[in-house]
Formats: sequence, C-alpha cells, structure tokens
Amino acid sequence: MKRILITGALGQIGSELTLRLREVYGSDNVIATDIRKNDSEAAQSGPFEVVDVTNLQSMMETAKKYNVDTVMHLAALLSATAEAKPVFAWNLNMGGLMNALETARELKAQFFTPSSIGAFGPSTPKDNTPQDTIMRPTTMYGVNKVAGELLSDYYFHKFGVDTRGVRFPGLISYDTPPGGGTTDYAVEIYYEAVKNGKYTSYIDKGTYMDMMYMPDALNAIINLMEADSAKLIHRNAFNVTAMSFAPEEIAAEIKKNIPDFHIEYNVDLDRQKIAESWPNSIDASAAAAEWGFKAEYNLETMTKDMIEKLRQKL
Ligand code: SER
Repeated sequence: MKRILITGALGQIGSELTLRLREVYGSDNVIATDIRKNDSEAAQSGPFEVVDVTNLQSMMETAKKYNVDTVMHLAALLSATAEAKPVFAWNLNMGGLMNALETARELKAQFFTPSSIGAFGPSTPKDNTPQDTIMRPTTMYGVNKVAGELLSDYYFHKFGVDTRGVRFPGLISYDTPPGGGTTDYAVEIYYEAVKNGKYTSYIDKGTYMDMMYMPDALNAIINLMEADSAKLIHRNAFNVTAMSFAPEEIAAEIKKNIPDFHIEYNVDLDRQKIAESWPNSIDASAAAAEWGFKAEYNLETMTKDMIEKLRQKL
C-alpha cells in the first residue's frame, strides 16, 4: 500500500481509517472520497474527491488521476437501513462493490472491503462460529455481504486482483457515529451514559453479539493488507472479533465508571430479529493463524477509554 483510494471515507470506519493511513503512508498518499464533502478532519487533511460509488466512471477517473495502487471500499448501507430499503441497498452495496473491484482490476491495485457478522444467518452455528461454515443470511445486508465475499474471491481467482477482507463485528468508536446498523446500540449507550446517565436499548437483554473497538479494527485492516499474500488461505473474508456481550453486560461495565447509570429496554422488533439471526460469538483463529490478528481492547478497557474520550468530546 503506497497510494490508497478510500470510498465512504467520511463514514464510521473511513473517517478514522483515513487519518490513520495518512499517519502511516503520508497525507498526500491517501485519497479520501465520499458522496459529499464536510468539514471533518478526514475531508480536510489531505486529498478529497466527491465520488458516488454507483458511478464507475467517476471512481475510475479519480483512481487514475491519483494513480492509486490500493482501493479500500467502505461505502455501504448497514443492516437496518438495508432491511428498510432492500432494492436501494442491493443497488448501492453490490453496484458500489462491483465498481470498486473493476477499478482495482483496471489499476492492478490491491483491494479491501469489509464483510460482517451479518453474513451469517439463523442456520449458522451460533457459538464460536467457525471461519468456514453455513452462510444463509436472512437480511438484505447479509445477502450483500455473502455475495460480496464471493465476488471478491472471484476477482482474485479470475483476474488476479489481490482482494482481502474481514468479517467485522459491531464497531465501537467515539469519533463518527455509525448509522442504520443493528449493533449501533453499543455506541449509543456510551453517548447516552455520558450525556444523560441512562439508555433505552432497542436490543433485548440476553442478546449476544460480537464487538470490537475501532483502534483494533484499524490495526486489523492495516495488518491484513500488509500480510504476506502467500500465507492467506481465506482472503474474503476473515472472522475477526474482540469481545461478545449482551446489553446488560455493557451496562454493568458502564456502571462501574458511572455508578448512577441505568439501562431500560424498548425492543425494536426489526433490529432484534436481525440480531437474533447473527452469531453470539465468532471464532477468529484463522485470522490469528494466517496474518497474526489480535485485538488489544476488551469490554473493560474499551469502556474506560470510550467514557474518557466522550467526556472530553461532549
Ligand atoms: N455493524 C453492522 C450492522 O449492525 C454489522 O456489520 O449493520
């Protein structure tokens, strides 16, 4: 990776990944793109271009203008929004991915796109979900993610594009909030805890999902992209995780730092149904074995850091 084009660079992952990559590879070598510009640091601290990922010509021209050797495709609708607008989600998620893969093929660039725990479904083994297992998701987002993994594999085998990906769990961060995801509650709960000392969860108690703190997610992307290609057996896409918890457990951890904090429940049946179709916890041993994946943060250390950072921010 020397000159990197990022789509969705102002989203939850992109806004932090852009800054991190600029530190590592130099500001001018990281070309941030998104459907619109804003005044965030990611948009202002280096090259930025407006690119609608459904427009192949615009993406291709931008990639050629900067002569990139890496494409990181992050622009996508998350699970709950995709469920509300399935046709739009198919067009954006699959059309965007196809255009990004075509751009990588044309420029002979290395390629990264995230898959998700959403690629699993109700017939997947729920605990310690293996790397290679049944994948029959019941959400549009999940269908997009499985198709995306297969398409990325296809571009590797058919065209020799160096495609790589991870199945991210819910990502927790204090910088740019996620939008329209099922795991978003685990971000909102920290904002509400710091602002108001209470949170009403739309995910029910006892519902376990995998999660990861953003610094670990950024390290995972960089380490995977820097890994020796010959050692990668799975490529698209590796299970990665840092922790698994239910709402009452994150609430209990927050309470250790904010003693008056309390959680209530008002379950959103749509998002609850999505959550229940996903694993309780996934097995990341293939990522550990093939490229040394390891997460640093657990629920306790992440909670301390989130609360500290949000107290400064809010
Ligand atoms: N965080 C995503 C979502 O909830 C899962 O990949 O949609």
